[in-house]
This record gives sequence, C-alpha cells and structure tokens, in this order.
Amino acid sequence: MPQNHNLEKAYHNATKHSYLSVQTNPNYVDASTQPSAFKVYPKFYRRVQLNLNNPVHSFIWLTSTVTLEKVYKDVSYKLRVNPSAGALYPTEVYVQIRSVQGMIDGIYHLEVENNCLTLIYELIDDGLESYVIPTKSISGFIFLISCVYYRSSWKYQDRSMRYCLLDSGHHLGAIAASAYLHDRDIQLIFDFDKLALNTDLGFENKEFITACVISGEMQEKKVRRLRLKVPFVCGTDYFEANQFIEASYQVTAIQPSRQQKLKQPSFKFDRDKFHQTVWNRRSTRRFRKQFISQVDYLYIWQQLQQPIPTENYEEIEIYSVVHRVEGMSPGLYKDKHLLKAGDFSEQTGYLCINQVIAKDCAVTLFFVSDYTNYQTAMQIAGFLGQRVYLGSNYMGIQCSGISAYYDDETQRFLETTKDVLYAMTIGN
Ligand SMILES: Cc1cc2nc3c(=O)[nH]c(=O)nc-3n(C[C@H](O)[C@H](O)[C@H](O)COP(=O)(O)O)c2cc1C
Repeated sequence: MPQNHNLEKAYHNATKHSYLSVQTNPNYVDASTQPSAFKVYPKFYRRVQLNLNNPVHSFIWLTSTVTLEKVYKDVSYKLRVNPSAGALYPTEVYVQIRSVQGMIDGIYHLEVENNCLTLIYELIDDGLESYVIPTKSISGFIFLISCVYYRSSWKYQDRSMRYCLLDSGHHLGAIAASAYLHDRDIQLIFDFDKLALNTDLGFENKEFITACVISGEMQEKKVRRLRLKVPFVCGTDYFEANQFIEASYQVTAIQPSRQQKLKQPSFKFDRDKFHQTVWNRRSTRRFRKQFISQVDYLYIWQQLQQPIPTENYEEIEIYSVVHRVEGMSPGLYKDKHLLKAGDFSEQTGYLCINQVIAKDCAVTLFFVSDYTNYQTAMQIAGFLGQRVYLGSNYMGIQCSGISAYYDDETQRFLETTKDVLYAMTIGN
C-alpha cells in the first residue's frame, strides 16, 4: 500500500507549481499552433444528426454542445457546456447505445463540432459492459470520457494531465446535469479496465479513457469483449508525444479507488431555470468585489453535499477562504468551521499565481484529498467543480475554476498535508 500510494502521488508531486517554476517555465505558446479541439471520424462512417426534439438525442447533445462562439485576438473560440482549462477541451465522449428505440445498437462518437453521433462500432453479442461492469448488460447508455492529451499538453506540458482529469470530472458533471434534465439516473464508474479499452478502441498512445457513466436498465448477462478493434483516428491534426504523461496515466489507471454505497442525489432545481443555467454557464474573467448573501452561499454548499452517484469514491475536503459574504467573518474555513479569521484576499490572489479573480472574488475554494486513486480523486474534484459552477450560476453568482496555484505554499496556508487538487472562485 505505501508503495502504491507513492506511485499515485508521484505525478502530482512532480508537477507542482512554485514561484520559481512559474518564473522559469511560463506557458507561452504561439496560439496559431494550437492543435484542433474537435475529433472527427472519417466520412464513410454512418452518422445520426442530433434532433433536439428527440429526448434521447437531446440528452446526449446537452452533455457536450457548443454554447457560445466568440473571436478573441483573431482566434475563434467555441465555448461549450463544460468548462475547460485554457479552453483547450481535451475531453471526448463516446456512448454505447443498446436497446433504445430508433437507434442501432452500437458505440457512437459524439461529434461535437457537427452535432452528430458517428457510429464507430455495431454491437452483436459484444459491448463495453465486459470492460466496465462485467456479467451485466445495460439497456440504455454507457458513456465513456477520454482525453486527447496533446490538446492540453501543447500548452501546459507535464502539468496538463491534472487539467485533463479535472476537465473530465467537469464533463461528468455536465453529463449529470443533462441526465437530471432528462429524468435519468446515472452511475459514475472510475475503476475498470481502462487500459484494455484504450487498445480496443484504437486510441494508441494519443487518447486515454478516464471515466464511464452508465444510465439504463441493468440485467444479469455476460457480454463479450469487442470482437473487432476500432481503427485509430487522431483527435488532433498533429501530435507530439509526452512520455511522462503517458507513463503517469498508466501508473495511475490501476489502483482501486475507495468504495462507498451507491446513492443518488436529489436536487430540487426549477427545471426551466436550471436548463437556462446549464446553457448559459460561463467562467467569469473579472469580479467586481461585491458581497454575496450568506443564503446564496449556503445554497451552493448544499449542492456540493448531495451524494455523488458512484461506488468508486475518493473523499474531497473543501477549504473556503471567505472574503466577501454578508454576515460571515472573513477568514479560512474548513467546511463551515472558522480556522483562521482575517482578510486573506491578497494571499489567495498570490497563491493562485497572482490571478486577480482569486483576490477579488467573494470566496476562494480549495479542494484537497488524501486519495488512494489519483485519477478518481481529480475527477471527483472536477465533478464537484461543475456543481459549484451550476449552483452559483443558478443563484446569479459568477464562478471560475483555477488550476494554477503554488502547490506547497497553498498547502502551508491551509495547514494541511493533503494534496491540493483544485481551486475555485465564486462571487460577483
Ligand atoms: C480545470 C479548469 C481549470 C481552470 N483554470 C483557470 C485558471 O487558472 N484561471 C482562469 O482564469 N480560468 C480558469 N478556468 C476557466 C477556463 O478558462 C474556462 O472554462 C474556459 O476559458 C472556457 O470558458 P467557459 O467556462 O466560459 O465556457 C479553468 C477551468 C477549468 C475547467
């Protein structure tokens, strides 16, 4: 166990930011060299154009769609329902559909750029169940999230696997939100044979599976592994390998996560308002240093405390540094307990690599964990991050994820020995 634990932590330890590392290795890139952020399978594959009047199509569509197009410094950005570090969108979605009326049983790639599902594999007596939930067959949907890591490593180099995993967690959160709006229960699965799937789905070294979501009826039935290999298709227009990331992914893909009993959350959102929130969700670029109400702040916390529907679990502790919440003393809190009183806004701004949003917000949150499986912990942090986005935007409060911070200094500020996995800012 200690040896495995060290292996799990090695990647995180090796990719810490410090004042010095950021000075000596700033992530400057020439924007014109950005690899493509959309994967497209060859045109001979059969495609289903998504029709939003069809609830099955709209369930899948709302997990990933583009919600805003904008041009910044002559570069056009297509922003999506899911946020992404640096808007680089390394995540892809595949969905197996079985026994759903009007759909061929198969594995589809969600082609976000063109709003369609590309049928990349037809099922006979085989399917994804044998990799993710052996001995069962799912009538319904099995989503897989993968990361085309070069989209992120192009800019963030070795540290980018962190961002891929956080983005994957956010994407799981986007699937959960769409499932809620389409009255479907889901179950997240983190412990499964990811390595075999990477091979059988033809990902080579360029894309890796991070998580799975099932939604549907489960029957006791043995399903065969995929009888054919899916041909390789590159998720970017060009590629540069990062062996450190590839090795770190492999090492952290195997160790089982902690286990818990499966429990479904029960949210009580107004449906239309929540739908609008999912559609309009955005990261703020600037806060106006306004106070938020304590009621709204506690509402966001309540969303975080809802169960996460998974048996494979890693505990995430949340520290909050309150700067501007009406009726609350500024200071560092763990859950709802005040640990240190004071105005720490300058300090959180500094710790998040002098990002002004971490200073001017109402609250800076830090997610820490003492995990057994790193991939699971990071994705659960991202999943909770998506709840923070949606919960705060629902209450008219702005939000942004922050994945760049000085790791050791933040740990010292929080007085924890656990790894700091993610930070978030909320406010107005
Ligand atoms: C994992 C993660 C890390 C992020 N880190 C930062 C950050 O350090 N600073 C920042 O200003 N925005 C950060 N963002 C916000 C992204 O820049 C934003 O999601 C992206 O530009 C897309 O815009 P949108 O969220 O409005 O759709 C982060 C988002 C995610 C999901």
